[in-house]
Amino acid sequence: MNPQIANLVLVLFIVQVARKFDMEDPNVLFYVRAFYASSQLLVMTLCYITKFKIKAKNDTTPLKYVEPAKPFQQEPNEVVQTTFRDYDLKKVDELINQTIIGVVIMSALHFYWNFTQPLFIQTILPVKNALQNNVIRIHLLGHKAEGELKRPFKIVSPFGALADAQQPATDKASIKKAEKAAKKNE
Ligand SMILES: *[C@@H]1O[C@H](CO)[C@@H](O)[C@H](O)[C@H]1NC(C)=O
Ligand SMILES: *[C@@H]1O[C@H](CO)[C@@H](O)[C@H](O)[C@H]1NC(C)=O
Ligand SMILES: *[C@@H]1O[C@H](CO)[C@@H](O)[C@H](O)[C@H]1NC(C)=O
Repeated sequence: MNPQIANLVLVLFIVQVARKFDMEDPNVLFYVRAFYASSQLLVMTLCYITKFKIKAKNDTTPLKYVEPAKPFQQEPNEVVQTTFRDYDLKKVDELINQTIIGVVIMSALHFYWNFTQPLFIQTILPVKNALQNNVIRIHLLGHKAEGELKRPFKIVSPFGALADAQQPATDKASIKKAEKAAKKNE
């Protein structure tokens, strides 16, 4: 199933289950909050174990690719020269940042605006997303870094298959072209 649709079905299901809970009951509220907090802690733990493993492996295989400019930004495509180790660490840091931003937004929704429903969704989805994260799959779940897990990873458009995101390029011609463009801009 398309991952976006799978997530949507999962969210609808969680929303239905969440309605069965009496959130006015302080006991229920306590457990819902505790599950939410444990789940964020679990994701962070997975991230830090993964970072530890990447550093221990120290795979310094060079990686060079053209990073497509972000949509709606005027900057040219950028040539990135890195290693498997640094690339993977950066990807884990992105997930850590996402998790922290998620907690900040969730805290505001919950403690400021009294929303409780998103707590359920944000207890389950981040764990699912972490287990589907490319770097975690490679280093923690033992998947081979080939096929869809070949670096640089494909960029998944937030709009799903409707909008094909521009992909990082690794061929010599694209790298040369981007390097030339960068020189011109200096
Ligand atoms: C990782 O490998 C590089 C080169 O192969 C080496 O210079 C560096 O000291 C290593 N780092 C660690 C933490 O082992
Ligand atoms: C994560 O957030 C920190 C602090 O805002 C920032 O300095 C860093 O560049 C971010 N890392 C990634 C990989 O997005
Ligand atoms: C949130 O709930 C508390 C306690 O039930 C109440 O005092 C507060 O006014 C509510 N805040 C909002 C924004 O509804």
